[in-house]
Amino acid sequence: MKILRLGFLVALASGFTVILIYITGLSTHYDNYQLSDEDWEALQSLQSDFQKCVSANGLGLQAISGKDYCQVTLTYPSDTDSKWRDPNTGELEGLSFVFNLCEAVATWEQVRNSTTILTREFIDALPNGWEEYAWRRINKGVLLNHCKNKALCMEKLSLVLPETPPYVPRQFGRCAVIGNSGDLLKTRFGKEIDSYDVVLRENGAPIENYTEYVGKKSSFRLLNRGSAKALDKIVELDETRQEVLIIKTTIHDIMSQMIREIPISNPVYLMLDASFGSAAKGTGLKALEFALSVCDSVDMYGFTVDPGYKEWTRYFSESRKGHTPLHGRAYYQMMECLGLIKIHSPMRSDANRVVKWVPSRSTIRAARIASEKWLRRVGAGSEDLLASCSIIKKQVKRKYMSVSRLRKAAVDHQKFVKGTTMYPVEHSSGHGQLCTVPVD
Ligand SMILES: *[C@@H]1O[C@H](CO)[C@@H](O)[C@H](O)[C@H]1NC(C)=O
Ligand SMILES: *[C@@H]1O[C@H](CO)[C@@H](O)[C@H](O)[C@H]1NC(C)=O
Repeated sequence: MKILRLGFLVALASGFTVILIYITGLSTHYDNYQLSDEDWEALQSLQSDFQKCVSANGLGLQAISGKDYCQVTLTYPSDTDSKWRDPNTGELEGLSFVFNLCEAVATWEQVRNSTTILTREFIDALPNGWEEYAWRRINKGVLLNHCKNKALCMEKLSLVLPETPPYVPRQFGRCAVIGNSGDLLKTRFGKEIDSYDVVLRENGAPIENYTEYVGKKSSFRLLNRGSAKALDKIVELDETRQEVLIIKTTIHDIMSQMIREIPISNPVYLMLDASFGSAAKGTGLKALEFALSVCDSVDMYGFTVDPGYKEWTRYFSESRKGHTPLHGRAYYQMMECLGLIKIHSPMRSDANRVVKWVPSRSTIRAARIASEKWLRRVGAGSEDLLASCSIIKKQVKRKYMSVSRLRKAAVDHQKFVKGTTMYPVEHSSGHGQLCTVPVD
């Protein structure tokens, strides 16, 4: 009996040892990823402020925490009339959407310090960038045989490929992103929109005849493939011909030809195609992504975000097939309650509306660090600036933008990152970045 009991104790003890070794082994390996008490508290405060923010600003939306500290479900009132049907399944769009707050806060905070414009230094620094990446940004990419003929690829991209990023984080102060929703015609936002430092529009959105509603100013225009092929018509929409055109897909031969032959003098760039957030595919979210990477604050107008509005019209044309409108609206509400954007719409038309309960910058910062650890992102929780860089390239910065011309916030950020440029790398495990570091 005694022996048995001893055996049992030994077995217990050795089991314990095994577990101990296992835990220590793990913890030395994943030390950076272990969440401290402060980290858990940060995630808790984020959830709690976030839920209050959604109830206070979401026009009927409610946020409920999910199975862990990161998950949140945004739910519409049960009497919401869902009208959009999935063309594949024929099912009506649901009234609840699950989002991952940790993923959103980690990813979107990273966007604020990244460049989202494709540059030559990026392709050069990407291992096999010219063979494995560049051809995908050219319309007839496949036929280019993975850019085996690098000279041909370079020539095709040359019109839209700056050497280094044309913009830096926080270069602009207050920015407005204007969608194309028909509900823009319900409020005269024109003057208010013109008061922003930078105005970003989308695709074929006209200005003439609508200035009362959409303003006159236009600094950037984000284009999908269809619009990019009609570049000659697009440039006519802005009288000043100074709009910077940003293409979210590929460079097309028709487009290159127009740039050369018409010629089109507006700057044209391609956006990096690393996609942020699960829903960040549509032009609207891409436009917000670009704006967040160059602006201090981002306000949005002309996105269909009010309950009951589901006419899916554009302000300048008849109905157009929308998609997953409730999902989109919930996602934008999440962005507002993470302090990323401010929504303006007919039902939220007071320019001075305060977004109540939006988590403070310090809560967001702490929650971002905790989220990086939770998600095991490269460099999570590290003080080292370059810790999140999975690829580092030393670069002689040629004719780098004269720092004296930049706003103070942008200069401060450049000092903080010591001139480093950060590019998100698509499909990189742990969301590592490609960083170019100036050599001194
Ligand atoms: C503005 O209205 C005028 C007169 O109706 C029309 O000729 C012109 O094409 C319109 N412009 C745009 C951009 O819709
Ligand atoms: C972004 O840069 C700011 C300094 O401008 C810094 O405080 C912040 O921690 C950075 N965020 C990330 C995600 O690295």
